[in-house]
Amino acid sequence: MKVIAIQGHGGPDVLQLVDRELPAPGRGEVRVEVRAAGVNRADLLQRQGLYPPPPGVAADVPGLEYAGTVAELGPGCTLRQLGDPVMGLVAGGAYAQSLLVHERETIAVPEALPLAAAAGVPEAFLTAYRALFLEGGLGAGDWCVIRAATSGVGLAAGQLAGAFAAQALGTGRDAQRLARAAATAGFAATHVEGSGPLAEAVRAHSGGPGAAVVLDLLGGGHLQENLQAAAEEGTVVSVGLLAGTQDRIDLGALLMRRQRLIAMTMRSLPLERRIALARLFERRLSPLFAAGRLKPTIDRHFPLADAAEAHRHMAQNHHLGKLILINTG
Ligand SMILES: NC(=O)c1ccc[n+]([C@@H]2O[C@H](COP(=O)([O-])OP(=O)(O)OC[C@H]3O[C@@H](n4cnc5c(N)ncnc54)[C@H](OP(=O)(O)O)[C@@H]3O)[C@@H](O)[C@H]2O)c1
Repeated sequence: MKVIAIQGHGGPDVLQLVDRELPAPGRGEVRVEVRAAGVNRADLLQRQGLYPPPPGVAADVPGLEYAGTVAELGPGCTLRQLGDPVMGLVAGGAYAQSLLVHERETIAVPEALPLAAAAGVPEAFLTAYRALFLEGGLGAGDWCVIRAATSGVGLAAGQLAGAFAAQALGTGRDAQRLARAAATAGFAATHVEGSGPLAEAVRAHSGGPGAAVVLDLLGGGHLQENLQAAAEEGTVVSVGLLAGTQDRIDLGALLMRRQRLIAMTMRSLPLERRIALARLFERRLSPLFAAGRLKPTIDRHFPLADAAEAHRHMAQNHHLGKLILINTG
């Protein structure tokens, strides 16, 4: 099979199409013939040697999400059958024509979703769903803040808030990109970063005490504003560090307003947590995809062999939605 391998850390050109032996599934595993793989920011960091995968995962083939069909069953498989369309999260290795996964961490591709689009679903929607509802405890009628709304995770979060009867205020640095994001993902309100205090914007739009949940992808330099935008007993969920890793906050205000600050990652989750999320996705989100109420936002498809081009495109920050690699072989 062909895979995209990181041949020495560095710029996009270190991504090379190479041959690897087809892996054989072990007990409970399936071999998925990958039709499409989503590109994520973590892949760009891994390529540069800045984000090694968890122990036991090959470090030289990136790729955290895939969609494809089950091509081989290992001993003891009972959930999946040959030819089943599946998608899911992995800790690496999805930039490849084949991939081994435990059958129970696969998610059945919702009806009506083509595989080329399904590959853009798991990372964005599971991350956003977990942050807003499982970690943040967002409820119907609540307001949340999504920072940044123009990100792949942000666009999924906006749709999810609407689908579960919550309201989302999305932020972004550029008014035009933010307006496109709002039209695509149904944000109830928007706020251009730097145009005034975020907390005032949230209170003006919600007419209430602030956001029940702030989903933050920016990190360094934004935490104090996030806590101010959150209501008393509200939750700030830190999911990304696009703007930096260091910050200072007023712990007195955190204490007096009885707020919660939570951080989460998907990639380092153990297998049993990924299995639980896969089952939750099928129960709670698959029906919404099947009904057309949730849809991945795809910016562009690239052939797998052009992974370097996809990385260059992501680094330019002009995309709105997911970049997807297609296995054309
Ligand atoms: N913890 C986890 O498990 C997990 C899972 C998935 C993703 N993530 C992280 O979440 C972040 C977003 O991922 P994604 O795939 O959704 O990204 P994406 O689609 O590439 O979008 C990133 C957005 O962030 C904004 N942005 C970029 N650099 C920025 C900066 N320095 N300051 C402020 N805004 C900036 C840009 O929006 P504007 O230019 O429009 O403002 C851009 O649209 C990444 O850091 C990723 O690693 C974490």
